[in-house]
Amino acid sequence: MTDTWYILGAGAMGTLTAHEFSRAHVQSCLLHHGSQTELRFLQCADDEHTLSAQPLTNLDQAEIKRLLVTTKAGQLAAALRGADTYLHPDAVIVTTANGLGMEAALAPLLGSRRLVRAVSTAAAFRQGGHQVTAVTAGETAVGDGQDRPAPWFLDGLQHVRGWRWSPDIGDRIHRKFAINCAINGLTASLGCRNGELLNGPGAESLAQLVAETEPVLRALGLWKDHLSLQAEVERVCRLTADNQSSMLQDILAQRPTEMDYLNGELLRRGRATGFELARNQQLVRAVRALELKAQ
Ligand SMILES: NC(=O)c1ccc[n+]([C@@H]2O[C@H](COP(=O)([O-])OP(=O)(O)OC[C@H]3O[C@@H](n4cnc5c(N)ncnc54)[C@H](OP(=O)(O)O)[C@@H]3O)[C@@H](O)[C@H]2O)c1
Repeated sequence: MTDTWYILGAGAMGTLTAHEFSRAHVQSCLLHHGSQTELRFLQCADDEHTLSAQPLTNLDQAEIKRLLVTTKAGQLAAALRGADTYLHPDAVIVTTANGLGMEAALAPLLGSRRLVRAVSTAAAFRQGGHQVTAVTAGETAVGDGQDRPAPWFLDGLQHVRGWRWSPDIGDRIHRKFAINCAINGLTASLGCRNGELLNGPGAESLAQLVAETEPVLRALGLWKDHLSLQAEVERVCRLTADNQSSMLQDILAQRPTEMDYLNGELLRRGRATGFELARNQQLVRAVRALELKAQ
């Protein structure tokens, strides 16, 4: 029998993933950080599914051998701290969290274990506390830097729809980071859908932000594509024209954003290599101001 995957963080991604695991007959258990068993309602096209989310604290000591953390980047440390008692010393820990710059804070919490990254094109959003709408299950790339899939991937995750092993996970993380740095903060600060960055004032702001950002990303080895970042971002905006970025959704729902792990981290890395990024700094300040206003 294979080990159960414990999915910690019963928000949009956690609820969708628990459903996808169940569809693929991969044994899993959705966990949250409250004290009572709760329900999550997932809307997928015309079907509604009800899932149960268990309190993490119901588990036995060292019970978790496979953990998928589906919290936001800024919540990872607290989630791992909360899970510490329940983690087996050899547990595999994977996260779907986006962004860069969380590694240093997490290292003491991981001990000898590594944090494996999953990069997903899934799209799901929360409406109210426990209601989740799935737009697409998307594709999820998982990797630990090795060419060959790890045994823990082969005995479970490979059966889940759209989940693939990726030998180049680092490049995927960087690519998503670059695109998110261009789209997320800007749509959140302008309060617009992704498609609105293709015309008018939105397009102008996007062009200025990308012109400042791309050279730094290239210098830092975070954008290696032969295509310009501008062309790729425009492609993504066209494909997702009607979508609200996750950061805009967070601002509208008065939740903390992942700005610190996107443009905030870019500013830190840029400064360390001698780049001053005025437009990125302005954007980070604008999004922080919106977060503060919402508190
Ligand atoms: N949603 C997507 O379609 C999607 C797609 C690809 C990647 N991602 C990435 O996946 C991550 C999660 O995104 P999301 O949209 O699912 O966010 P979300 O809906 O805000 O879900 C995060 C969940 O984590 C919970 N949480 C917060 N602190 C916790 C803790 N200390 N211990 C346990 N649980 C905790 C939250 O609970 P409370 O609200 O009760 O605090 C919430 O249920 C993000 O990094 C996002 O960028 C999301």
